[in-house]
Amino acid sequence: MQIDIFTLFPHWFDWFVTQRHVTNALTEGNKLDFIDYRPTTPLKAGQVDDIPYGGGAGMVIRVDVVEAALLERYQQDPVELKQKRRVIALTPGGRLLDDAYVEELAAEQEVTLLCGRYEGFDERIFEHYCSDQLSIGKYVLAGGELAAMVTCDAVMRKLPGALGHEESAHEESFSAALGGAPEYPHYTRPAEWRDWQVPEILLSGHHERIRQWRLAESKKRAEQAERKSV
Ligand code: 6GU
Repeated sequence: MQIDIFTLFPHWFDWFVTQRHVTNALTEGNKLDFIDYRPTTPLKAGQVDDIPYGGGAGMVIRVDVVEAALLERYQQDPVELKQKRRVIALTPGGRLLDDAYVEELAAEQEVTLLCGRYEGFDERIFEHYCSDQLSIGKYVLAGGELAAMVTCDAVMRKLPGALGHEESAHEESFSAALGGAPEYPHYTRPAEWRDWQVPEILLSGHHERIRQWRLAESKKRAEQAERKSV
């Protein structure tokens, strides 16, 4: 898989690319590139944003700036590019990222993430260059970079070889294997700490009963989460 991230702050990602599941995914042949909007801007003095028409606070990323960066990278009209490749704007009003969306992206060969800053993007960027708009939650961040990292983190750990062993990403919170429910509780040694015991069943060695218990616990948590959110 090849992920390209367009940003005004490529250095923000320096730490991110040192994370083990990311380096593992890259070793497996996946690619992660960062493209700075600024070197290709058609405007003077590295300008990339502008004041909003109609007035209001903040600055907006310009459509010509994004087009120039996409054109330089892909050597084709970005209006056509989005038919062939997921081009995703990171924006608080977008489709909420969840496990199903992460799986969808992890199955793509090529994904482009566009980070905005300031007040966001000129609307024509969404309309004409983007296949998707993605949000990581119902709150506003100062820019799309952290959301891009969250998205890449979640997607890259799904790629083969990114985690220690293959199984780890299969039966986890919100996965199809658990029917979209949160994960069951985990315990490790010591079996007893103060008067807090690890559930007997986990020490029993009955694999099938342990499996049943875990599914039941996962379901219980889903019901509890449901009650908290209403
Ligand atoms: Cl993708 N961008 C920004 N700026 N804020 C957000 C977000 C994205 N998702 C949640 N809040």
